[in-house]
Amino acid sequence: FNTSAFQNALIEWYHANKRDLPWRADQDPYKVWVSEIMLQQTKVDTVIPYFKQFISKYPTPRDLAYADQQEVLKTWEGLGYYSRARNLQHAIQEVVASYDGKVPDDPNELGSLKGIGPYTKGAILSIAYNQPQPAVDGNVMRVLSRVLKVDDDIAKTSARKKFETYAASLISHDDPSSFNQGMMELGALICTPKEPMCMFCPVQDYCRAFQEGVQQALPVKSKQ
Ligand code: ADE
Repeated sequence: FNTSAFQNALIEWYHANKRDLPWRADQDPYKVWVSEIMLQQTKVDTVIPYFKQFISKYPTPRDLAYADQQEVLKTWEGLGYYSRARNLQHAIQEVVASYDGKVPDDPNELGSLKGIGPYTKGAILSIAYNQPQPAVDGNVMRVLSRVLKVDDDIAKTSARKKFETYAASLISHDDPSSFNQGMMELGALICTPKEPMCMFCPVQDYCRAFQEGVQQALPVKSKQ
């Protein structure tokens, strides 16, 4: 497997094809954090207006930390899963209290904040801080399961650890931010669940599932 050719093809494709999304306007870790929490259970198109409104109301960690919880929950109205908003505000209050309002770039500090699991931690560290950390969600597991032809059941918690190891071994150390966002974008636009558009895939040459014609059978996902 030619890792650097894979990285280059993915990153080049990402730069040419990335969607112009509001959380991609800069690499502010706070905005990346808010966007990743919103995107956890909600589609991109739905998140866009909520993200814009949330950031215009609470442009910095301090604005969110000192905001009234009921106001924050009202701004979240329609996104659902309100514990996400409560945990986010709680964690941001800790960022203001313990880290002078600066989102930690230390993996252990960041990972101990409320509501930040391995995926969100990896997304913030890679996208905002350019650290070569894996950020593995369902989209990324699907891409990896096909490229590397891995048939572990992605519904099982044990599979995610395995995919994180693969992601860590593939990630570009030159441009971790574009690499991880490229993986997410590839999963969203090309390497889709049902009818992946392999003819337009920038990493077709490196994809074991495509070469063996089994892309439709991956990932394996049981109902749990
Ligand atoms: N899904 C999860 N994170 C995302 C991001 N940063 N951009 C687009 N889609 C995503």
